Amino acid sequence: MGQNTKNQDESDNPFQETRTIDASAAEVVPQEIIISEQACSLLYQPHLLQNPVVNLLSGDSLPRAESSKIISSGGRGQAWFVEIDGLSCVLRKYRRGGMIARLVKHTYFSFNLENTRSVAEYRLLQWMHEQGLAVPLAVAASVCRWPFKFSPFYRAQILVQRIADVQTLDQLLIQRELSAIEWQRVAQCIRQFHNAGVYHADLNANNILLDKKGKVYLIDFDKSELRNSHTSSNMWMQDNLQRLKRSLLKQQLINSQYNFSRKNWQCLIDAYDASASI
Ligand SMILES: Nc1ncnc2c1ncn2[C@@H]1O[C@H](COP(=O)(O)OP(=O)(O)OP(=O)(O)O)[C@@H](O)[C@H]1O
Ligand SMILES: [Mg+2]
Repeated sequence: MGQNTKNQDESDNPFQETRTIDASAAEVVPQEIIISEQACSLLYQPHLLQNPVVNLLSGDSLPRAESSKIISSGGRGQAWFVEIDGLSCVLRKYRRGGMIARLVKHTYFSFNLENTRSVAEYRLLQWMHEQGLAVPLAVAASVCRWPFKFSPFYRAQILVQRIADVQTLDQLLIQRELSAIEWQRVAQCIRQFHNAGVYHADLNANNILLDKKGKVYLIDFDKSELRNSHTSSNMWMQDNLQRLKRSLLKQQLINSQYNFSRKNWQCLIDAYDASASI
């Protein structure tokens, strides 16, 4: 999905279809609206947000937010729990990682709105939601060009629905051991995404959420994309799993107590292999 990672056959990509909805047609309830003013654009779901200002997500403060709280664990410190129009959401600013972040933290490059990080993630979330995959609903995506209106450089934010009563896999493993059933559910969840062709660009223990009933969700789909799941090569699926394993082993080194063992990983792999046809 991200412009840097697009390496699949374009014809497989459902986002090639046009999804623009004519908001002026009175009988049609629009599923999405894009507003643009000066250098900013906001794509949002009108049944979730009512008449938002274009800089709803991009301003220094969140004028419409009834409350906001920075999320200090599990990411790069660029995400907030916010309440907007009575809706519990997570707001995330796109920020680079690695060496390049020393030079440019928040700025990306694209002429095309559809290829910007926030809009690409919004579209993918919407598509996955339609497929019945366990993801938060996309509420809005924001793009602001700078230093001038027609610049290819932009900063971006996304607003997604907050999933209630969840903990990350990482938080849980610090507290307690997971049962075999919980590891199997994690495996089956990942398998469902892979079967649908979803490559998660950053599958780690902080991007897997479990709710109190044991339902598993995946979050944080920046740079993720659709890939072919019907070929004999499943390299990208294995890459995803290995990335998750590395993140678990890394957390094990950092935390004095971390409830992750070889047996747990084998349990996950067995359940993943057994659920090929989910
Ligand atoms: N939809 C959601 N519902 C509940 N909690 C969430 C949701 N999205 C994110 N969180 C919490 O916020 C944390 C950070 O969110 P997220 O993974 O989206 O951003 P990030 O990791 O900071 O982004 P990046 O990896 O690009 O730096 C998650 O680990 C999780 O604890
Ligand atoms: Mg994350």
